[in-house]
Amino acid sequence: MRRRQVLQSPIALAGALIADRCGLAAIAAAVSFPHGFRWGVATAAYQIEGAVKDDGRGESVWDRFSHTPGKVKNGDNGDVACDSYHRYLDDVALMRELHVNSYRFSISWPRIQADGSGAPNPKGIDHYKRLVGALREAGIRPLVTLYHWDIPQALVDRGGWTRRDTAARFTDYAQIVARALGSEVEHWAIFNEPKACTHYGYLPEHSEPCGTDPSKFLLASHVINLAQGDTFRAMKAIDPAFRIGGAYDVSPMFAATDSDADRAAAERFHRFQNLWFLKPPLTGRYPEGVLPPERLHALLGFEDGDEKRMRAELDWIGINYYSRFFVSDVPQGNGVPGLNAQPHWGAADARERTDFGWEVYPQGLYEIARTIARETGHRPIEITENGAAYGIGPDAQGRVRDAQRIDFLRGHLEQVARAIADGLPIRGYHCWSLLDNFEWTSGYSQRFGLVHVDYANRQKRTIKDSGQWYAKVAAANALV
Ligand code: FCB
Repeated sequence: MRRRQVLQSPIALAGALIADRCGLAAIAAAVSFPHGFRWGVATAAYQIEGAVKDDGRGESVWDRFSHTPGKVKNGDNGDVACDSYHRYLDDVALMRELHVNSYRFSISWPRIQADGSGAPNPKGIDHYKRLVGALREAGIRPLVTLYHWDIPQALVDRGGWTRRDTAARFTDYAQIVARALGSEVEHWAIFNEPKACTHYGYLPEHSEPCGTDPSKFLLASHVINLAQGDTFRAMKAIDPAFRIGGAYDVSPMFAATDSDADRAAAERFHRFQNLWFLKPPLTGRYPEGVLPPERLHALLGFEDGDEKRMRAELDWIGINYYSRFFVSDVPQGNGVPGLNAQPHWGAADARERTDFGWEVYPQGLYEIARTIARETGHRPIEITENGAAYGIGPDAQGRVRDAQRIDFLRGHLEQVARAIADGLPIRGYHCWSLLDNFEWTSGYSQRFGLVHVDYANRQKRTIKDSGQWYAKVAAANALV
């Protein structure tokens, strides 16, 4: 049954309507959104495209990793995924049915440059031109993510993100894409979750694609900050009208206990998780109080002039929000020198969790949006990801009754409305995800889609109840 959020501050009210759900009549206020608000869905290339060997695509780190025994749940991989590379027109048609006016998707780097350098692959470029064309025709804004974790394996073999040259390779690739698609694409996200893809990539507890060495994680984080600054400038040189930002995995931090030590650890972890890739572009400096200052430059491989290279006056900030963290102090350390903080994902005694085990904490979206707006000088914000995994499939009539996802989305959207009413500059919301898809090391075990995908039955797509609901919300520009 639906759990209603109690809102603590005024929200936009547009009359009252009578809701009758689950047999209970209730009076609810209709929450409306500003004119021009973007209603979107998000995906990522490796998670949906499949076709990993088509049209000259090279190998990505996730191809290699997912084919390494024991790395991904059930031995799953993205070879076919949702086959969106071939079915992109069907997927655009689904987006029309969902009434969305923004689609956040990513470009597969190895489709553009098979081994991460050199001349572009025209077939890869043509695919994305066709996709962007179809979106434009459908009146849907393309929001292009340049990097959603699928670095060409050839670059990883040469050191990947720990190697400074990779920043130059990435900037070349970004320029190729910007020149090819720039006449039709205005909004760009350079990196998706730079914290996640370096942290999960290199720290031992995750052991995702790039190894298990914390010192490499710090080097990689710096190279990504260099790439972010270089790419921003290179793209602005191509077209100053581009609106360029990124999608950052940010969360409110809570101390695990009331102790001063845990409170200080929560603050350190906030600077690390939430600001590590935002302060360098906006200020040219890393947040203080995370790494020991006397070792900062050595640990990062920082060179003279890097403070300028990292700078980028991001035009907008993307927030990916799923849940909150609780942080404890670990004086003995746990990998990253000086950080001495152990994050726990969600409250131990969470009242509600998704099928992935993530705590449902809608007000965290309001809290983190407020923090990020303050830390970034109130630049425009878009929610670039938010959503929930519920493994509900079609019933005997073929209908997917995922009321839990509707509750989840409604709760979070109420917080977005509350944030806007409080003056936060939130311009759009993207549900993760359009489709059920390949959820990284969890393979196909987690279903985040507004649209169900029957992988075994010719990829049959079925709009879930949540998708039908989201379509009404997007069409009304208001919660219904
Ligand atoms: C985010 C990723 C996205 C998806 C969701 C569930 O961290 O950016 O690709 O896996 O989590």
